[in-house]
Amino acid sequence: MIAGGNRSINYLRISVTDRCNFRCVYCIPSKPFQHIKHRQIARYEEILRVTRQAVALGITKVRITGGEPFVRKDIMSFLEDLCNLEGLKDISITTNGALLTPKKIEKLLELGITRLNFSLDTLNPDKFEKITCRQRFQKVWDAIMNAHTMGISPVKINSVILRGINDDEIVDIASLAMDYPFHIRFIEYMPMGNSAVEKSQQVLTSEIQEKIEAKLGQLIPVPREFNDGPAKKFKITNAKGVIGFITAISSHFCGDCNRLRLTSRGTLRPCLLNNYEKDILSPMRNGATDQDLKEIIETALAQKPLYHDLNNKDKSCIPISHMTSIGG
Ligand code: 5AD
Ligand code: SF4
Repeated sequence: MIAGGNRSINYLRISVTDRCNFRCVYCIPSKPFQHIKHRQIARYEEILRVTRQAVALGITKVRITGGEPFVRKDIMSFLEDLCNLEGLKDISITTNGALLTPKKIEKLLELGITRLNFSLDTLNPDKFEKITCRQRFQKVWDAIMNAHTMGISPVKINSVILRGINDDEIVDIASLAMDYPFHIRFIEYMPMGNSAVEKSQQVLTSEIQEKIEAKLGQLIPVPREFNDGPAKKFKITNAKGVIGFITAISSHFCGDCNRLRLTSRGTLRPCLLNNYEKDILSPMRNGATDQDLKEIIETALAQKPLYHDLNNKDKSCIPISHMTSIGG
């Protein structure tokens, strides 16, 4: 599938739930919000059906996100069905890790899911509780270490740096890439929905890079590979891992964006940072054929914008949905 700007779309991100067992300050809205009603959430067989059509149109990579994917009932059997879907070459999951037991890791490896992204913004248990509103640091750390020792590769770690909260840990987090073959990815905070985090707490990539270089050494760019995601990747001499930056705010990467999203409400979202969504669940429940579904996917992709507008001072450009409902 080709979207505007000659972008070849081969990557589908599927949010399987808007529920999460954490309450990360930058993700969950500060005001009370309603979860999606159960019957409005796409059932597993519906997700599989959309995915099958997307694969027929050229999707080869899928990432499962949430909320937190492992809070959804029967997620392991859904993953097994997804892994059996012909034509999919690459399946990975983004998780906060808290529910990821060694048994589940073993099952993922058996299924051929060998890549995981963990969200981890601090190495300090107290701060962890402040950020996520949960005392789960040790659980998450154990899950990351288990994933690593059991053979998940690469282990990727997503960190959102916020001023006054964890900006004093930039070097400690980056140092994980010195000691372990991890891909550490610093993600610029994106103002979404009505989050409790101020825009002024955003720490831009340039500042993070300066702090890392001052302590750990020069960041040497890793050449981009075909189909690389939006992270700009670097090596440091003698580091076992890689350090990446997702510069959502400080520089557009829309020109390289190869992805389409399916939300847990069964809508297609061609851009995370744009409010356009196309309902595919209702047509499916109203008897749409596979051909109809393919056409809906193509219509959604035709709306993929060429660039986002998060830097625009006009508040109306801030996406109204928060990350748990779209699926990071
Ligand atoms: N800005 C940047 N990253 C965010 N995430 C969640 N909310 C935001 C936000 N507002 C990140 C999480 C997770 C990933 C899926 O998205 O840290 O790792
Ligand atoms: Fe849950 Fe991830 Fe959002 Fe944190 S960032 S509340 S772990 S979905």
